[in-house]
Amino acid sequence: MKILVLNGPNLNLLGIREPEIYGKENYASLLAFIRRAAEEEGVEAECFQSNHEGVLVDKIQQALGVFDGIVINPAAYTHTSVAILDALRAVHIPTVEVHLSDISSREEFRRFSYVSLAALKTYAGLGFEGYHQAIRFLKAHAADK
Ligand code: DQA
Repeated sequence: MKILVLNGPNLNLLGIREPEIYGKENYASLLAFIRRAAEEEGVEAECFQSNHEGVLVDKIQQALGVFDGIVINPAAYTHTSVAILDALRAVHIPTVEVHLSDISSREEFRRFSYVSLAALKTYAGLGFEGYHQAIRFLKAHAADK
């Protein structure tokens, strides 16, 4: 099973960026965490980060026929991007949404997620562990089919 893990804007700045919200560990640590989680679950995971909405849309389109699942933390685009929602609906690849922080208990503008309209499940507020849960969910979902 091949899973594409997409991270949106500013997640490359983990560790520097608002550590009281997103933690002290950096993006390289997140990649290592995801690599270990994928190994543990026996799946292949490819990670990609971009600060650009269109690049994330391209990546989702290119996943068609290549990946069996998508884990996405769209970061700020969660709350604004109809383009990312439409791309996920277009490719129809099982998708799980992840947020490091609990977006439901922060500012009002973070409460709505376009991506959740296409995602099978959302994990928020679990830090890095949310990515592991997402991979596990996609594996179980694929096994059910
Ligand atoms: C985030 C939450 C978003 O609201 C925010 O814009 C991010 C990160 C999270 O992982 O908690 O950049 O997706």
